[in-house]
Amino acid sequence: MKIKGIVAAISVLVLSSCSHIQKTNMAIWGNPYDVNDTFVALGKSTYEQQCVACHGVNGLGNGAELKANMATPPNFTDGTYDKSLGLVAANIKYGKRIDMPAFRDKLSDEQIWAVANYVKSLHQQL
Ligand code: HEC
Repeated sequence: MKIKGIVAAISVLVLSSCSHIQKTNMAIWGNPYDVNDTFVALGKSTYEQQCVACHGVNGLGNGAELKANMATPPNFTDGTYDKSLGLVAANIKYGKRIDMPAFRDKLSDEQIWAVANYVKSLHQQL
Protein backbone atom coordinates (compact mmCIF):
# COMPACT_ATOMS: atom_id res chain seq x y z
CA MET A 1 0.00 0.00 0.00
CA LYS A 2 2.71 2.43 0.98
CA ILE A 3 4.65 1.71 -2.21
CA LYS A 4 1.55 2.28 -4.33
CA GLY A 5 1.12 5.67 -2.68
CA ILE A 6 4.72 6.60 -3.34
CA VAL A 7 4.48 5.48 -6.98
CA ALA A 8 1.29 7.53 -7.39
CA ALA A 9 2.91 10.59 -5.82
CA ILE A 10 5.95 10.28 -8.07
CA SER A 11 3.76 9.87 -11.16
CA VAL A 12 1.83 13.01 -10.30
CA LEU A 13 5.09 14.92 -9.81
CA VAL A 14 6.60 13.66 -13.06
CA LEU A 15 3.43 14.28 -15.07
CA SER A 16 2.84 17.76 -13.72
CA SER A 17 6.39 18.83 -14.47
CA CYS A 18 6.28 17.47 -18.01
CA SER A 19 6.26 20.40 -20.40
CA HIS A 20 4.06 18.56 -22.93
CA ILE A 21 1.24 18.45 -20.45
CA GLN A 22 1.76 22.05 -19.43
CA LYS A 23 1.80 23.09 -23.10
CA THR A 24 -1.50 21.31 -23.64
CA ASN A 25 -2.98 23.02 -20.58
CA MET A 26 -2.04 26.45 -21.92
CA ALA A 27 -3.62 25.61 -25.27
CA ILE A 28 -6.85 24.46 -23.61
CA TRP A 29 -7.27 27.23 -21.02
CA GLY A 30 -6.21 30.06 -23.30
CA ASN A 31 -5.15 33.62 -22.61
CA PRO A 32 -6.15 34.71 -19.08
CA TYR A 33 -5.31 38.41 -19.72
CA ASP A 34 -7.41 41.24 -21.14
CA VAL A 35 -6.33 42.17 -24.65
CA ASN A 36 -6.26 45.96 -24.19
CA ASP A 37 -3.86 48.64 -25.45
CA THR A 38 -1.37 48.06 -22.62
CA PHE A 39 -1.29 44.33 -23.33
CA VAL A 40 -0.78 44.91 -27.07
CA ALA A 41 2.03 47.39 -26.38
CA LEU A 42 3.65 44.94 -23.94
CA GLY A 43 3.64 42.26 -26.66
CA LYS A 44 5.33 44.55 -29.16
CA SER A 45 8.04 45.77 -26.75
CA THR A 46 8.73 42.21 -25.55
CA TYR A 47 9.10 41.05 -29.16
CA GLU A 48 11.48 43.92 -29.93
CA GLN A 49 13.63 43.16 -26.90
CA GLN A 50 13.68 39.35 -26.90
CA CYS A 51 12.75 37.97 -30.33
CA VAL A 52 13.99 40.25 -33.13
CA ALA A 53 17.51 38.81 -32.92
CA CYS A 54 16.30 35.48 -34.35
CA HIS A 55 12.84 36.14 -35.78
CA GLY A 56 13.63 39.45 -37.50
CA VAL A 57 12.04 42.89 -37.07
CA ASN A 58 9.01 41.92 -39.16
CA GLY A 59 8.70 38.28 -38.06
CA LEU A 60 9.92 36.80 -41.33
CA GLY A 61 12.25 34.39 -39.49
CA ASN A 62 15.43 36.08 -40.68
CA GLY A 63 17.02 37.59 -37.55
CA ALA A 64 20.68 38.54 -37.57
CA GLU A 65 21.58 36.18 -34.69
CA LEU A 66 20.48 32.99 -36.46
CA LYS A 67 23.36 30.63 -37.08
CA ALA A 68 23.70 28.44 -40.16
CA ASN A 69 23.30 25.23 -38.11
CA MET A 70 20.06 26.39 -36.44
CA ALA A 71 16.52 25.39 -37.41
CA THR A 72 14.69 27.91 -39.58
CA PRO A 73 12.05 29.80 -37.59
CA PRO A 74 8.59 30.03 -39.12
CA ASN A 75 7.49 33.05 -41.12
CA PHE A 76 4.88 34.66 -38.85
CA THR A 77 3.54 36.99 -41.55
CA ASP A 78 2.30 34.94 -44.49
CA GLY A 79 -0.27 32.66 -42.85
CA THR A 80 1.80 29.48 -43.17
CA TYR A 81 2.30 29.50 -39.39
CA ASP A 82 -1.23 29.13 -38.05
CA LYS A 83 -0.98 27.58 -34.58
CA SER A 84 -3.50 28.68 -31.96
CA LEU A 85 -2.63 31.49 -29.57
CA GLY A 86 -2.34 28.99 -26.71
CA LEU A 87 0.14 26.81 -28.55
CA VAL A 88 2.20 29.80 -29.60
CA ALA A 89 2.36 30.96 -25.97
CA ALA A 90 3.26 27.44 -24.81
CA ASN A 91 6.12 27.18 -27.29
CA ILE A 92 7.46 30.54 -26.13
CA LYS A 93 7.23 29.57 -22.46
CA TYR A 94 8.71 26.08 -22.75
CA GLY A 95 10.77 26.42 -25.95
CA LYS A 96 10.68 24.32 -29.09
CA ARG A 97 13.11 21.50 -29.82
CA ILE A 98 16.72 22.74 -29.58
CA ASP A 99 17.02 26.19 -31.10
CA MET A 100 13.96 28.02 -29.78
CA PRO A 101 14.82 28.92 -26.18
CA ALA A 102 12.34 28.60 -23.29
CA PHE A 103 11.37 31.98 -21.85
CA ARG A 104 9.72 30.85 -18.62
CA ASP A 105 12.61 32.15 -16.47
CA LYS A 106 13.04 35.37 -18.45
CA LEU A 107 9.50 36.63 -19.03
CA SER A 108 6.37 36.83 -16.87
CA ASP A 109 3.29 34.86 -17.95
CA GLU A 110 1.67 38.12 -18.98
CA GLN A 111 4.65 38.99 -21.21
CA ILE A 112 4.52 35.49 -22.74
CA TRP A 113 0.81 35.73 -23.61
CA ALA A 114 1.29 39.33 -24.82
CA VAL A 115 4.18 38.43 -27.12
CA ALA A 116 2.24 35.39 -28.41
CA ASN A 117 -0.63 37.76 -29.20
CA TYR A 118 1.83 40.02 -31.02
CA VAL A 119 3.21 37.09 -33.05
CA LYS A 120 -0.35 36.19 -34.12
CA SER A 121 -1.06 39.82 -35.04
CA LEU A 122 1.91 39.93 -37.45
CA HIS A 123 -0.08 37.80 -39.85
CA GLN A 124 -3.19 39.95 -39.59
CA GLN A 125 -1.25 43.16 -40.29
CA LEU A 126 -0.47 42.17 -43.88
C1 HEC B 1 18.17 32.33 -30.22
C2 HEC B 1 17.22 32.53 -31.28
C3 HEC B 1 15.77 32.70 -30.93
C4 HEC B 1 15.20 33.62 -30.06
C5 HEC B 1 15.90 34.68 -29.22
C6 HEC B 1 13.78 33.40 -30.14
N1 HEC B 1 13.49 32.39 -31.01
FE1 HEC B 1 11.65 31.64 -31.47
N2 HEC B 1 12.49 30.23 -32.63
C7 HEC B 1 13.82 30.14 -32.94
C8 HEC B 1 14.04 29.02 -33.84
C9 HEC B 1 15.38 28.61 -34.42
C10 HEC B 1 12.78 28.43 -34.06
C11 HEC B 1 12.46 27.17 -34.88
C12 HEC B 1 12.62 25.99 -33.93
C13 HEC B 1 12.35 24.66 -34.57
O1 HEC B 1 11.45 24.55 -35.41
O2 HEC B 1 13.04 23.70 -34.19
C14 HEC B 1 11.82 29.22 -33.29
C15 HEC B 1 10.48 28.96 -33.23
C16 HEC B 1 9.55 29.79 -32.65
C17 HEC B 1 8.13 29.61 -32.71
C18 HEC B 1 7.40 28.47 -33.41
C19 HEC B 1 7.23 27.28 -32.50
C20 HEC B 1 6.38 26.24 -33.19
O3 HEC B 1 5.16 26.32 -33.03
O4 HEC B 1 6.94 25.41 -33.91
C21 HEC B 1 7.55 30.65 -32.04
C22 HEC B 1 6.07 30.91 -31.82
C23 HEC B 1 8.63 31.48 -31.56
N3 HEC B 1 9.83 30.93 -31.94
C24 HEC B 1 8.45 32.65 -30.88
C25 HEC B 1 9.48 33.39 -30.30
C26 HEC B 1 9.28 34.57 -29.49
C27 HEC B 1 7.94 35.22 -29.23
C28 HEC B 1 10.51 34.96 -29.07
C29 HEC B 1 10.83 36.09 -28.13
C30 HEC B 1 10.18 36.07 -26.83
C31 HEC B 1 11.49 34.05 -29.63
N4 HEC B 1 10.83 33.12 -30.38
C32 HEC B 1 12.85 34.14 -29.45
C33 HEC B 1 14.83 30.95 -32.46
C34 HEC B 1 14.68 31.94 -31.52
